Amino acid sequence: MPDDAKQLPRATYRSMDQGTKEEYDLVFGYLKDFQKKLPDRLLESLKTLKVSYYGEPVDRYVHSLQTATRAHRDGRDEENVVAALLHDLGDMLASDNHSDYAAAILKAYVRPNTYWMIRQHGLFQGYFYFHHFGLDRNMRDKYRGHPAFQLCVDFCDKYDQMAFDPDYDTMPIEAFEPMVRRIFAREPWGAHAKLDGGYGEKY
Ligand SMILES: [Fe+2]
Ligand SMILES: [Fe+2]
Repeated sequence: MPDDAKQLPRATYRSMDQGTKEEYDLVFGYLKDFQKKLPDRLLESLKTLKVSYYGEPVDRYVHSLQTATRAHRDGRDEENVVAALLHDLGDMLASDNHSDYAAAILKAYVRPNTYWMIRQHGLFQGYFYFHHFGLDRNMRDKYRGHPAFQLCVDFCDKYDQMAFDPDYDTMPIEAFEPMVRRIFAREPWGAHAKLDGGYGEKY
């Protein structure tokens, strides 16, 4: 909140049941302005992945950029590229279910299949390493038949699991910034959300 915001009118209620329609109009007006800056917050959050856990050949920020770069160069549409860029954002605050975190951020702004792909990517990515820990690398098979099954297989196979190369020509964040702004300028739960047969309850 900028300092001068303290001069702006604010609601007077002490509990929500005291709030008037006018007060809620006021607050939701501020909220709308705040929501418009979501792309700024996402781009800022992405940078925090530079100081995520240590040990991989590239840090999680570069991994994110490289995943998006590979998706972009393979001809994926803007929505998929942005999803690829943000797919590991949950590493910082939801490391035990990081796929859910990124999927929740994207959900109102992308097609249902793109949402599903990001939500399931952690499990699908397990194909490449679960067996080293005595787990079933084919756990993803339980989702065979889902319309986004192959989309998620391809995301992991071609982009996510491939994005650990320090020598790869990874595109800079500036290349993706306009894409992030365009995707998050969409009407939340707009026409895109009605595609792919909707979100469904089954999965
Ligand atoms: Fe991930
Ligand atoms: Fe990843």
